[in-house]
Amino acid sequence: MVSNNQLLSEASQFIELCYNERQLEKQIPARLDEIKGEINKKGFYTHTMEELQYGAKVAWRNSNKCIGRLFWNSLHVIDARDANTTEEVYRALCEHIEYATNGGRLIPTITIFAPKQNGKEKVRIWNHQLIRYAGYETNAGIVGDPASIEFTKTCNKLGWKGEETAFDILPLVVQLEECDPVWFDVPKDLVLEVGIEHPEFDKFRKLNLKWYAVPMISDMKLEIGGIIYPAAPFNGWYMGTEIGARNLADEERYNKLADVAKIIGVETTKNSTLWKDKALVELNVAVLYSFKRAGVSIVDHHTAAEQFKHFQEAELAKGRNVTGDWTWLIPPVSPATTHIFHQQYKNDIVTPNFFYQENKY
Ligand code: ARG
Repeated sequence: MVSNNQLLSEASQFIELCYNERQLEKQIPARLDEIKGEINKKGFYTHTMEELQYGAKVAWRNSNKCIGRLFWNSLHVIDARDANTTEEVYRALCEHIEYATNGGRLIPTITIFAPKQNGKEKVRIWNHQLIRYAGYETNAGIVGDPASIEFTKTCNKLGWKGEETAFDILPLVVQLEECDPVWFDVPKDLVLEVGIEHPEFDKFRKLNLKWYAVPMISDMKLEIGGIIYPAAPFNGWYMGTEIGARNLADEERYNKLADVAKIIGVETTKNSTLWKDKALVELNVAVLYSFKRAGVSIVDHHTAAEQFKHFQEAELAKGRNVTGDWTWLIPPVSPATTHIFHQQYKNDIVTPNFFYQENKY
């Protein structure tokens, strides 16, 4: 736990940023007095709605691994700090899914639950993402998403049972303070998915591939001005390569490149036919085509890199440094075609920000 002095120093830093950037610097002294009093009395302080909102936006702006940061200032922030039963948390998560999905025109959204207070976590979401596919080890090999095997076992232990298809939606697992975790099924009508087809290769459909529309990361903590929010699920929209070059392609994930190669008719016995590269490109074409056709927001990696360039320019114009993690910012397909590849980024960690935290299972 941090000392009151340290908390106050982090709070001051944030308040300066939050009010200065919005030309509200006159309010700083009074607000800091208030916060100081609160910290001395209780050991924590409470963000105003505006601070919470701006803090979450800046946390996105500071996310070194994210190529999509141009849109940081349009993040929609939902204040769910008062949700204090598992049912209420579950309802807020459903509302997040519905709002963010928005019928396919995705809205970058964050729902912020109660902060840690005096070392105690009030709310924790066990899922890595609000919507994700289960993974099972069966006698016939792995079924579903291998990345979910451990969490799927955890859900099974809690009493959940999936149908063991390749694309079972995992339940939401919510934990309140020191209580046992509780699981809830995600209502089927809230889950938007896109079947993957290819604009030229009809047989692509036979692979029976699909992916969900909205990536909602739910296991990271949000830190604003020294206050920790352990449950603050957030989403943007997908960059095609996340699905086409990683989730469906990685050997440790759905591992579909050989199947795709067969369908597009490339020889897979020699590396030098570049069958993996050809399969990757066509799989990524298919992902982008399918999402667009279904009216679901997605961005290709070339456009995302251009947008990131605009972000860098906008930040520079504001006199701010852009920090970044090059290894994450470069796309996994044709990285050297983007400006990002040819530049260096300082991977300094600035707050507000999102951080990994330890699993509860
Ligand atoms: N890479 C993760 C996935 O494929 C999602 C991470 C967040 N992505 C995003 N576009 N906001 O599910």
